[in-house]
Amino acid sequence: MKHFINLKDVKINDLKKILKDAKKRKYNRKNLGTLDADKGAPLKGKILIQMFEKPSLRTRLSFYLAIRQLGGGTITLRSNELHLGKGGESLADTAKILSTYGDGFMLRTDSDKKISEFIKYLKIPLINGLSPSSHPTQVLSDIFTVEEIKKKPISKLNICWIGDSNNVLNSLITASVKFSFKLNIACPKNYKPKKLILDWVKKNKKKVNIFHDPKRAIKNVDVIFSDKVISLNDKVNVKKKIKDFKKFHINEKLLKLAPKSIFLHCLPRGNEVSEKVFLGKKSHIWQQAFNRVHVQKSILMYCFDKLR
Ligand code: CP
Ligand code: NVA
Repeated sequence: MKHFINLKDVKINDLKKILKDAKKRKYNRKNLGTLDADKGAPLKGKILIQMFEKPSLRTRLSFYLAIRQLGGGTITLRSNELHLGKGGESLADTAKILSTYGDGFMLRTDSDKKISEFIKYLKIPLINGLSPSSHPTQVLSDIFTVEEIKKKPISKLNICWIGDSNNVLNSLITASVKFSFKLNIACPKNYKPKKLILDWVKKNKKKVNIFHDPKRAIKNVDVIFSDKVISLNDKVNVKKKIKDFKKFHINEKLLKLAPKSIFLHCLPRGNEVSEKVFLGKKSHIWQQAFNRVHVQKSILMYCFDKLR
């Protein structure tokens, strides 16, 4: 049994194995229906309990399909429907019950501490389906999408992030260290990634390039990533933050500086990107969103010690 909480904690060989397995599974499903199980139904008899403390469309649906396509099933809980959410049951007891009924636990939470608490008591794997500090399933899947479209290992590509220093960027920074790819980050001066993550990059003898001018960051890169300026856990002055990011708006003029680039966005979008870019030729956002099913299947295989 293995948890999947932060890309930092997963060996690079395992991350690569997950991507390889996802590629094979995606290819082998070409003639199968949405709910048909992969050959051998490797997770037959298993149930994944999903719990959401925050809204979700893609993560919820993609984990539903992922476990079903491996032959298992899922149940989705909303934390405010449990005793735990109302303070009527401890986290430790909740974790024990989850481990009694379920085989895996996917949690989207507004507290990283809750993840560390859960893993003290769970006897089943925990998958982080987004926390304030990271979104590892999203970013691993995005690497899959980049390599699928560019037909090259990500280590040979130049990646650019334009936007807020949030959970998705933290996971992308972590991935840049693990997979050794060049990462340019464009953000306003007061919105730099946290010292903790930048120190971790340094400790690993790697670097990321931070720019406060998006034109410099984007020049000739292969992939442009973005995300909402206001994240689910943001307790900020929304108007001010949006104004601070005005110069970082992604439009066709900016994209001209990276003629061979593709545009990716984890969704949902805010107004950080123009409609023309979002729906334009360089954008691969729908393929990116659906690839989460394929990659999360292989993450589940990893967590259940079935990845060969
Ligand atoms: N990208 C992503 O995680 O989407 P949801 O919030 O809809 O799950
Ligand atoms: N950074 C965003 C990602 C949503 C999938 C958030 O945390 O709201």
